[in-house]
Amino acid sequence: MAKLNLYLSNFVFCISLFNVQTKCFDERPWLYKNHTALFIFGDSSFDAGNNNYINTSFGKANFWPYGETFFDYPTGRFCDGRLVSDFIAEYAKLPFIPPYLQPGNKLFIYGVNFASAGAGALVETGKGSVIDLQTQLGYFKNVSRALREELGDAEAEALLSRAVYLFSVGSNDYSFPFETNSSVLYTYSVEQYVGQVIGNITQVIKEIYEVGGRKFGFPSLGSIECAPFARRMVPAGENKCFEPITPYVELHNIEISKLLQKLQSDFKGVKYSIPEFHALEEEFINYPSKYGFKEGKVACCGSGPYRGILSCGGRRGVAEFYLCDNLSDYVFFDSAHPTESANEMLAHLAWRGEPNVTGPYNLAALFEF
Ligand SMILES: *[C@@H]1O[C@H](CO)[C@@H](O)[C@H](O)[C@H]1NC(C)=O
Ligand SMILES: *[C@@H]1O[C@H](CO)[C@@H](O)[C@H](O)[C@H]1NC(C)=O
Ligand SMILES: *[C@@H]1O[C@H](CO)[C@@H](O)[C@H](O)[C@H]1NC(C)=O
Ligand SMILES: *[C@@H]1O[C@H](CO)[C@@H](O)[C@H](O)[C@H]1NC(C)=O
Ligand SMILES: *[C@@H]1O[C@H](CO)[C@@H](O)[C@H](O)[C@H]1NC(C)=O
Ligand SMILES: *[C@@H]1O[C@H](CO)[C@@H](O)[C@H](O)[C@H]1NC(C)=O
Ligand SMILES: *[C@@H]1O[C@H](CO)[C@@H](O)[C@H](O)[C@H]1NC(C)=O
Repeated sequence: MAKLNLYLSNFVFCISLFNVQTKCFDERPWLYKNHTALFIFGDSSFDAGNNNYINTSFGKANFWPYGETFFDYPTGRFCDGRLVSDFIAEYAKLPFIPPYLQPGNKLFIYGVNFASAGAGALVETGKGSVIDLQTQLGYFKNVSRALREELGDAEAEALLSRAVYLFSVGSNDYSFPFETNSSVLYTYSVEQYVGQVIGNITQVIKEIYEVGGRKFGFPSLGSIECAPFARRMVPAGENKCFEPITPYVELHNIEISKLLQKLQSDFKGVKYSIPEFHALEEEFINYPSKYGFKEGKVACCGSGPYRGILSCGGRRGVAEFYLCDNLSDYVFFDSAHPTESANEMLAHLAWRGEPNVTGPYNLAALFEF
């Protein structure tokens, strides 16, 4: 049976049929000139449904119980509800930013979401079953051309330079090699491997700059070493974080910060925000009750130790899974992804945090320029 959803957000109406947004109408077309668009890149932390449209079985989340809290259907988000990027769009008074691959998506003036679950900065990461960062960049370039055709060069340039470019990338580059015992762990030093990841990210930022982008949001990598999927890789009974991945995560977060500082001084007009997600997630995990949670280590949905197997929904090769009764108690929804409640707190830090937790600007400030 056809399920018709009417979605309304900040004056933008979207109609979806079979969970596919078919048409969006803007009630206030005269206002768009003054808003700040949001372009989203990266992995499952921000994927709002791009992977629904590619050939991947592990990288999809468009089935129950994903989406059960907020969207009344599974959108493809790896969460029970909204992602950090969704909250940021709400705070910026934008509609939810639609996935680039969603059929019929031609509304680019508020931005587009290119993120793909499983993707990393390196083409090898998740190869064949993700939209890698290079391809995401290619899509963005095409969108920038479409905007120039639609709005003319001057207006398109104003939109692109005012826009915020929000990234979640790197986690998969570091977790996949451990999950697959990849030879890169033995071929490269931590410094060399992180150097490749940062090198590829640098190149993507520079290309976005050339197209006109100026404002970059790069939340630090979260506490992936302590997420349920990582804890499961530790020998049984130890109840520890997965330490071998820690040096990669720590070095990455240091290098990203250095990189953005350097780009800001070398490239005219660059501004950035670097919300400190790692420390906040560590807090959630170690002191859940301080934040209103009861469980920081075990996921709500999944199977195996800590429910660290990505089996939530039973459609990724493992049919049986456990689903918690009381979602609001949990930091993690599935083995690798926070619940909507945790995402909201992360988004709040990114939006309004002080400089000691967001770097030179918080996201609210980036949107205001
Ligand atoms: C445009 O946005 C700026 C900053 O958000 C605001 O100060 C200004 O009043 C807005 N102008 C219009 C015409 O809405
Ligand atoms: C999707 O991927 C699977 C596994 O890699 C492959 O067997 C299948 O042919 C692919 N399907 C399409 C439509 O490309
Ligand atoms: C960009 O658009 C061109 C022309 O429409 C197309 O040939 C190309 O495949 C597109 N690139 C991407 C990455 O979608
Ligand atoms: C991982 O791969 C290395 C060499 O490629 C091998 O020596 C090691 O035994 C493997 N470890 C596991 C747990 O399979
Ligand atoms: C990008 O990553 C590839 C591996 O995917 C690596 O060979 C290359 O050197 C990296 N590029 C930069 C500029 O670091
Ligand atoms: C779920 O958790 C909330 C907050 O901890 C609590 O108020 C509520 O009673 C719990 N519900 C159930 C069914 O356990
Ligand atoms: C950041 O600064 C604020 C006040 O300026 C303070 O309350 C907060 O504890 C600081 N946070 C960290 C993580 O240092």
